[in-house]
Amino acid sequence: MEAPHPRLAALLEGPSLWHGIEYHDEVDSTNDLAAEQARRGAPPGLVVVADHQRAGRGRRGRSWEDAADTAGAGASLLLSCLVALPERAATLAPLAAGLAVHDAVRRAGADPDLKWPNDVLLGERKCAGVLVESLTDLRRLVVGIGVDLDWRGVERGGETADWTSVAEETGAEVERWGFLADLLGSLESWLGDVTTDPSVLLARYRSRCVTVGRRVRVLTPGGALAGTAVDLDRDGSLTVRSEDGTVSVQAGDVEHLA
Ligand code: BTN
Repeated sequence: MEAPHPRLAALLEGPSLWHGIEYHDEVDSTNDLAAEQARRGAPPGLVVVADHQRAGRGRRGRSWEDAADTAGAGASLLLSCLVALPERAATLAPLAAGLAVHDAVRRAGADPDLKWPNDVLLGERKCAGVLVESLTDLRRLVVGIGVDLDWRGVERGGETADWTSVAEETGAEVERWGFLADLLGSLESWLGDVTTDPSVLLARYRSRCVTVGRRVRVLTPGGALAGTAVDLDRDGSLTVRSEDGTVSVQAGDVEHLA
């Protein structure tokens, strides 16, 4: 793995939430490794980064692929952050992470949108996802983030066939460690708002989320639901109005319909 960026070193040395970054060439899943480190006593503020995951995990039990074997380590950014939040605020962590990725993608020169809860889209094409897992025994969260930075020349297939990467949209190379520094700086700031003033975070999230106002199909743990996404609750849930009434969805996969 390459030497870390000076901005990352500055972030670690300054008065930041992030106190350590572990770099790996290859792991099963950075989320699993961050959880393991927490169980071994690592405090919140640890970030685990890998060039390649052998068993990267997405939401709803899906796998998360990177393109390190064909496009090299810079194709994707794969990281997991160990954080502690009060239990009542934990539902907002996925939104905070989505906003942080959105910020970093924008700083890289692209024009992203958020699809609830935290898919980052360029046009209607996904370029990043977030998997937040809670370690209930330790009252910690693992915030796992995967960003497709530069998949130019990579052939995609299956359900990611219509996804994209930041460089495919901007036409420019993305400096991975600078992008990570932007992302971590922003994530710290949004996580701060989660505890101090969630209304600031929710207002910013609403302004960037293209799901509210759309016709949607939502796959929830309890089944599928179709309707119009009409609002966000204070806990980050999506309010969906369907023929059967209005439902507050806490977790699910959204498909934007026409
Ligand atoms: C999604 O399904 O959209 C969420 C994808 C999250 C992928 C990231 S990559 C780094 C971290 N480690 C994992 O195994 N998953 C997350």
